[in-house]
Amino acid sequence: METKIIQTKIKVFPSINDLTEQDQILLKLAHKSVLDAYAPYSNFRVGAALRLNNDELIGGSNQENAAYPVCICAERVALSAAASKYPRVGINTIAITAKSQKLEMTDPVSPCGTCRQFMCEVEQKHQQKMRVILQGESGPVYILECAKDLLPLSFDGSVL
Ligand code: THU
Repeated sequence: METKIIQTKIKVFPSINDLTEQDQILLKLAHKSVLDAYAPYSNFRVGAALRLNNDELIGGSNQENAAYPVCICAERVALSAAASKYPRVGINTIAITAKSQKLEMTDPVSPCGTCRQFMCEVEQKHQQKMRVILQGESGPVYILECAKDLLPLSFDGSVL
């Protein structure tokens, strides 16, 4: 029997200060976007920020609803805003962070499965890898080369 080993490559940086200036700027926009979250039900605020190929930066935050399944995650808010404004411009990097009322987020935030799937589709659409930067409120920063690394064995349109 063959054993297949699938590894996810994550670069770990001790703090935001260890990133390039460009990445620091993007991550700071994600932190700023947390303040725009509408999260009265979970009190869990998420911020996402995108750097597009045209160097435009776009932020997004989670938008909740009394009907819980209607809630939209920060990542999909930002990516949909970018797709509406610049449908044909690829996305170089997404930075994601979060702030919880319940606990101090010192570990990098972990995007939900739906957002991982959504991010993979964006990479497919533009035929371009999208770097992923993850941080909590503070603390270490993870950088992945592409969104697909967050979703091994992902489902995609190649079988449809
Ligand atoms: N949330 C995000 O915005 N992104 C994620 O990747 C995980 C979860 C939001 C959805 C909801 O508003 C709140 O966090 C709690 O689940």
